[in-house]
Amino acid sequence: MTLQNSPLGNTSTNRYGSIAAEIYDIDKPVGALPDTAYYLARLADIDGPILEPACGSGRTLIPLLRARHTVAGFDPSEEMLDRCRAGCASEGFAPELSRQRFEDFSYDRPFAAIVLPMGSFTLIDDFARAMAVLRRFHAHLVTGGRLIVDIASIAWLAETGEDRRRWTADNGDLLTIEGKRVATDWLTQRAESLLRYERWRDNALVESQMEPMAQRYWGVEEFRLALEASGFAEITVTGGHRPGRTPTSAARAITFEAIRK
Ligand SMILES: C[S@@+](CC[C@H](N)C(=O)[O-])C[C@H]1O[C@@H](n2cnc3c(N)ncnc32)[C@H](O)[C@@H]1O
Repeated sequence: MTLQNSPLGNTSTNRYGSIAAEIYDIDKPVGALPDTAYYLARLADIDGPILEPACGSGRTLIPLLRARHTVAGFDPSEEMLDRCRAGCASEGFAPELSRQRFEDFSYDRPFAAIVLPMGSFTLIDDFARAMAVLRRFHAHLVTGGRLIVDIASIAWLAETGEDRRRWTADNGDLLTIEGKRVATDWLTQRAESLLRYERWRDNALVESQMEPMAQRYWGVEEFRLALEASGFAEITVTGGHRPGRTPTSAARAITFEAIRK
């Protein structure tokens, strides 16, 4: 995960280090966002193991376990995985969690479903790599298995404003994020940002982490064609996690569901 030909230089991207992981759980606690109920409903009839690539700290994985599914997850961020393991253990779950990446993950058995909630697939910032990942998903599904992938609207590519937010941690630390768009490539539909995470205590800066983030945004029909080219069929597209609703231009989250032929 390095950036080539990038204004940020040759540095690790989409890292989700310790401050990012801590903020993630404060900002998006398990079950708080409406997408979870949507995935639970869409996966209710799945009778077999489910894989969540980029499972992060368990925001979606833990509710799937609560719903009595057998779930495996992977993520390259040790800090996100540690949080996921702790959250699972606190509820008596011990799912198979491993440190892997989209680009080269591997399991010795196929899954009945693969689910990728919002904010994960777009982290694959290159078209050819993303296509290879879709083929890898296909290879890890049983015939008739279901893929559910959320993509962020391509409208995000035009959102070049700064992101400044702050949170208070349980121990009283002030956690801040300052995100700046550093590159937008309209031809490849790729955006790069530089995120500065800080931890403040007693008015003093105690920790600071810089994390480059790179994302590739997709057009709706482009992604449908990508799924078809990767061996998926029966593709449906939903907007804003509202079952049966086709996406409007205002939809920020677009969910694709497809079946492995
Ligand atoms: C927005 S979080 C999503 C976490 C979780 N799926 C959820 O719904 O809350 C994105 C996750 O993608 C992971 N990630 C970043 N690069 C990745 C890669 N190359 N392969 C797999 N996961 C990656 C990050 O570590 C992070 O945990």
